[in-house]
Amino acid sequence: MKFDSPATTNPIDRLKVVGKPIDRIDGKLKTTGTAPYAYERNDVAPNAAYGYILGASIAKGRITSLDVSAAKRAPGVIAVVTYQNAGKLAKAKAHTARLLAGPEVQHFDQAVAIVVAETFEQARDASRRIKVRYAATKGAYDLAVAIKTAQKPAPNPDAGADKPDTAVGDFAGAFAKASVQLDETYTTPDQCHAMMEPHATTAAWEGDKLTVWTSNQMIAWAVRDLTETLLIPKENVRVISPYIGGGFGSKLWIRADALAAILGARAAGRPVKVALARTQIFNNTTHRPATIQRIRIGCGPDGRIAAIGHESWSGDLPGGGPETAANQTRLLYAGENRMTAHRLAVLDLPEGNAMRAPGEAPGLMALEIAMDELAEKLKIDPVELRIRNDVQYDPEAGPKRPFSHRDLIGCLRTGAQRFGWDKRSATPGRVRDGRWLVGLGMAAAFRNNISMTSAARVGIDRKGVVTVATDMTDIGTGSYTVIAQTAAEMMGVDVEKVVVLLGDSSFPASSGSGGQWGGNSASSGVYAACVKLREALARKAGFDPATAVFDDGKIRSGNKSATLAELAGDAGLSAEDTIEFEGLDKAYAQSTFGAHFVEAGVDAQTGEIRVRRMGGAFAAGRILNPKSARSQVIGAMTMGVGAALMEEAVVDKRYGCFINHDMAGYEVPVHADIPHQDVVFLDEVDDKSSPLKAKGVGELGICGVGAAVANAVYNACGVRVREYPITLDKILAGWAKV
Ligand code: MOS
Repeated sequence: MKFDSPATTNPIDRLKVVGKPIDRIDGKLKTTGTAPYAYERNDVAPNAAYGYILGASIAKGRITSLDVSAAKRAPGVIAVVTYQNAGKLAKAKAHTARLLAGPEVQHFDQAVAIVVAETFEQARDASRRIKVRYAATKGAYDLAVAIKTAQKPAPNPDAGADKPDTAVGDFAGAFAKASVQLDETYTTPDQCHAMMEPHATTAAWEGDKLTVWTSNQMIAWAVRDLTETLLIPKENVRVISPYIGGGFGSKLWIRADALAAILGARAAGRPVKVALARTQIFNNTTHRPATIQRIRIGCGPDGRIAAIGHESWSGDLPGGGPETAANQTRLLYAGENRMTAHRLAVLDLPEGNAMRAPGEAPGLMALEIAMDELAEKLKIDPVELRIRNDVQYDPEAGPKRPFSHRDLIGCLRTGAQRFGWDKRSATPGRVRDGRWLVGLGMAAAFRNNISMTSAARVGIDRKGVVTVATDMTDIGTGSYTVIAQTAAEMMGVDVEKVVVLLGDSSFPASSGSGGQWGGNSASSGVYAACVKLREALARKAGFDPATAVFDDGKIRSGNKSATLAELAGDAGLSAEDTIEFEGLDKAYAQSTFGAHFVEAGVDAQTGEIRVRRMGGAFAAGRILNPKSARSQVIGAMTMGVGAALMEEAVVDKRYGCFINHDMAGYEVPVHADIPHQDVVFLDEVDDKSSPLKAKGVGELGICGVGAAVANAVYNACGVRVREYPITLDKILAGWAKV
């Protein structure tokens, strides 16, 4: 099914199941420990041996000698694999660094050897008996230095970076002429995903057929990348990933755990499982790159923006890409004269890549402090300043490209009203509660809506049970549930009558989970398959498919009806289709909007910061399940607090690695750190986004949070911190100055 014209009324609009806050259908499995994760697949690989990865102890250079003899003799060892005996491997196009080093080393902790043994402890012990000698070369590890030679990156449409730069009108001239100017630089640090489940894989070979049980967001990409890495045909690779304990972008592509398990299993002649230890994840896998961002905004005393410019510098390994932190500035606010630019420096740190709303999350951390600073200069309320600069079309393309639906103003007003924004004092440091200085801050939220081709198969059996099969993943987001709701609504059955099978490359290829496109795209693929199944059932009943009504497990036409179970018969019926989105995302800007509000306390003596209360209002098309959407958004808001106050992968600029590499040194907030979170979704449908009239919502929740926290901290204590994370030492240094 092509989705190339706006949706009209369809069975989803009945909203008997879709739009209801039903519990997760996989909730019981998750909460009883019976949903099997990749490392626990004893059911399919009961005799799996354990693999352990030895990582490189230099960041850049070459392996000059490798001695694995002692490791091979160690107790329990079955095999040791290095580049010398791994067979021919290639780098997948989607990977920046190779998953197995040798002889060249591209980053610290890049896999150098895989040891396979009877037990995990034996494998780990033997890995330490491997003697590796390196010739280290000098690398670049300091972004602030490397940006001096930063280049304009190549366009990469696949990563939302189709244009590194944009320019409209005369930015420099209009900025110079503006009576009110803001010109500030903000920095965000390297960050790590820190998802609960580490990267883990169980791999098994049967002849030349490979099966990989892994933790992965994008099954079809995993098959593609394994095919490219191992130089084997696609038909020989099966990837299975039905349950995932968080991805946050780190599992968009297969990582070293998968390759290590695969090579280990081939060498050992039996299944092998590999999980990365938490301490390996920080340097072995990917991270969100640090940014340096300069924002310039010029306006008149009325606050209407005349010129807006956003430049962002980040670094990556050679061949990598930028953090696209200026992207939202192309679409969020009005202004005739505009420019955005991304510049990319070469850094020899581990591979930088997507994490938790790449681009917009760190971009808004800068832009939305800038808007707060501008509001203060103008003596205009920050909510009002954003309302004055609303624009109903893509401000770079002009009115010929309207937004499919944009209610940022609704989010700002609703959020402000629910939060009690009118009680805020515009002057910092005016509110005290015991030892706490208390402040309120806000920021706009913005995340683009991306739609991806997605296929599904839907069948019905003689008991009237509807089974959906698609390689879509559920990374904790609720995919199982919204897919079940979609199929139940379309087929006119209770949600209990729907079985959802996900995360297997033998199923039709879905959108996968990333960039907040998964829920809307994958459900739309299920919708398309259901339309086909409805037609098949109607034809079998002798009814007109266009007017037949599906309800209560039956199909009705006029006063005639038949049960779906009877029509399915012993053989059952099934249909497969693909949703393909064409044209509407070009003709319309499709984005999601929101507003974040934060109450922060700053200890008047120590500078310690606490988030006391958060509120958010969001406009993201039809909300398929308000309960799972709320869960995603409060989780995202919590992550945003981490970005604002805690999360920093600290670069060792001498040795080119992240120093803090566990959950003690890399702190993340938990829900208990934020006593109260209020979330409201505006009631909207977007007929240009999909047949379900829904959009992405998960990543919207993190976008803007960091700045809302920063602005609340400023309002509480009068210290404007422009270098994230906002830690108490920066507050104390700020106080010393004021
Ligand atoms: Mo998301 S960072 O695209 O998994």
